[in-house]
Order: sequence, then C-alpha cells, then structure tokens
Amino acid sequence: MRNKLLTILAWLALAISPAITGRAANEFVPGIVWKDTGGNPINAHGGGMLMHDGVYYWYGEFKTGRTYLPDCNKSWGGTRVDLTGISCYSSTNLTDWKNEGIVLAAVPGDQTNDLYPGNVLERPKVVYNAATRQFVLWMHVDSANYAAARYGVAVSDRPAGPFKYLGSFRPDAGVWPLNVTAEDKQPSATNILARDFAAGQMARDMTVFVDDDGQAYLFYSSEENPTMHVSLLTDDYRHTTGKYARIFIGRSMEAPTVFKHGGKYYLIASACTAWAPNAARSAVAENIFGPWKELGNPCTGPDAINTFHAQSTYVLPLPGQPDRFIFMADRWKQWNLPDSRYLWLPLEFSAEGKPVLPWRERWSLAASGAR
Ligand code: DGJ
Repeated sequence: MRNKLLTILAWLALAISPAITGRAANEFVPGIVWKDTGGNPINAHGGGMLMHDGVYYWYGEFKTGRTYLPDCNKSWGGTRVDLTGISCYSSTNLTDWKNEGIVLAAVPGDQTNDLYPGNVLERPKVVYNAATRQFVLWMHVDSANYAAARYGVAVSDRPAGPFKYLGSFRPDAGVWPLNVTAEDKQPSATNILARDFAAGQMARDMTVFVDDDGQAYLFYSSEENPTMHVSLLTDDYRHTTGKYARIFIGRSMEAPTVFKHGGKYYLIASACTAWAPNAARSAVAENIFGPWKELGNPCTGPDAINTFHAQSTYVLPLPGQPDRFIFMADRWKQWNLPDSRYLWLPLEFSAEGKPVLPWRERWSLAASGAR
C-alpha cells in the first residue's frame, strides 16, 4: 500500500512539474524563468561553464537591484545594475542546477577597488590548470563607462570557490601583435593599437579557450571594440604572455565563444550593439592566431536575424561526444537586467562543416541524440 502511494506521488510530481517550472524533467526551454533546485530563478548572466570530476559548474554575473542608465552611458543606452559578484551553480545533468552562492563578491566602501559596486564585472569564465591544480577565473573588469577595459583574474583551489581576486590588467603591454604591419605601428588619432601599445591593449567582452595541448588563450574585444585580439596565456593561466594576434579587424565583434571540432577552431560571436540583439557571426581557423574565415550567421529559423533575441556567451562541448555542443546565450532585458533570460540550443554542423543553430521551442539532450 505504502509503495503504491509513493508511486502515485512520484507520478503526480512528474505530471505537475512542467506546470510549475515551465519545462518537463531534463528539458531546455529557451527564454523561460529557469529555476534552480531551491526554486529561485538562476542568476548567472554572461556565463561560462566548467566540467570538473563529473560535475558542471555554471558561473555568471549575479545581477540584482535596480537597472539604471548612468549619465556617462546615456549616448549609447548602457544601462547597468551595481556590481554584486560572480555566482556559481552546479549540476550533473545540465538541467537541474544547485546554487553554490557568490564565489567572488563585490567590495563596497572602497571606490579604488575593481570590485566596487559602481564598476563593471562581466563575462566570467573559469578554467582548470592541471599543473597548479587551481581554478582560474577570468572576467571583464571595467569602469561604469567601460573606459578602463581590463581583464581581471581570481583563483581558487575548489571549483565552487571562494575565489581570491589577484587584480586587473591590460593585456600585452609593450608588445606588437604577431601580424603587425608597418602601418599599424604609425600613431594617429584612429590607431588605437598604437595608442595602447605601452599601457596594454583594451580588453572588454572575453572568453578563455583551453586547447588539447593545455595551452590557454584569451579572446577579447579590443581597440575600442572594432578589432578582436587572441592572446596566449602563461602556463599558470594567470596572465597573457605577449604573444597575440589581431583578428576580425574592423568587424566589431563581441561576446566571443570558441570551441574546437574536427581539429579546427570555431568562433561564434555577436556584433556590437550594446544590450540589443543582433545577427550572430561564425568563423573557422586552422591556426588559433588566424587567419580566421567568417562563415556567416549560424542561426536558422524564426528570428535567426537577431540570434533569437539573444547574444552568445559560451559553447559547451559535451564530454566524450566530439560532435555535440551546447550553445549558451543571454536574452538581455535592457531595462530589467536581473530578469534577463537564458537561451541554450544544440549546436549542429552542416554537411560543409559550418556550425548551425536551428531554433527549438524546447528540447532535451536525449531527444537530440545524446548517447
Ligand atoms: C554588450 C556586451 O556583450 C555585454 O557583455 C555588455 O557589456 C553590454 N554590451 C553593455 O551594454
């Protein structure tokens, strides 16, 4: 009798779960309020993912409080919330996420601190360094008007933190890129590369990619955003080395995601339109420093033209499944940033080897061919 009752209760829970959560067990539903295992909306924007010892860790910008438009950003609609910190969630199935709390917190009361609430902390990405056995958190650190344009680094011995902040820096000070031309070295009012040569290059939207040989690279929007850079990181993953290249020159790309497939490097990024969505871009390269060949908008289906109202943030390779990736993106709400939503889609490859992101109302790993 007791067993029968338990079975009925379990079926009942399964049946009413979609009504409460908006999704069935193990389902991804782009754009809904995605709740954690404690019943609260997941708060991890501009996020990145790490898989360690069979557990996935989702790191993101914890956005809370009032969204406002500071005077310094009025010309381009750069709304913001005060900086609170970086959040972390853990999961073993990618759909049910446990809140691990804030792993790097804001530092109120000290205006000179990078982590002061009035500053900007965006696009956190965590990588594991096997040699130092440390988890290294990379992030875009900035002033409210995005003029500082620096990378920040923090480390931890545990994936769920807490992380110790090491400081912020400008990449590759005093070094010219691998693909520099004589013209690039000429100072002029519009030559940002030369302007920033001594102080270090600007670093805004960013991601970190770890290659099969353990070498890690930082991809970041630079030179006031029109040009992206890719920099090799030091062996401990804490800094850039000075070996870097300019890529997508003058193409104004943000929100980079990088992954490898069939021995080639792929990138999916956005154009540069503040919080407003735009058409995603994709590209492929044989050498990580380029040349990169653009492959166009990978999205297909309704609203492919604006990445289904979203902006890329990470591409997750599924462990042990070389052809399977999840594309992660943010549906920003410019005037209510904490209520921004998530859009995850399965990434496919066309017969010609181009990345493709078909629209899905809802989907699950099993139904999309997971083994
Ligand atoms: C676009 C970037 O991709 C976001 O991370 C954020 O910096 C917004 N711009 C701010 O407007």
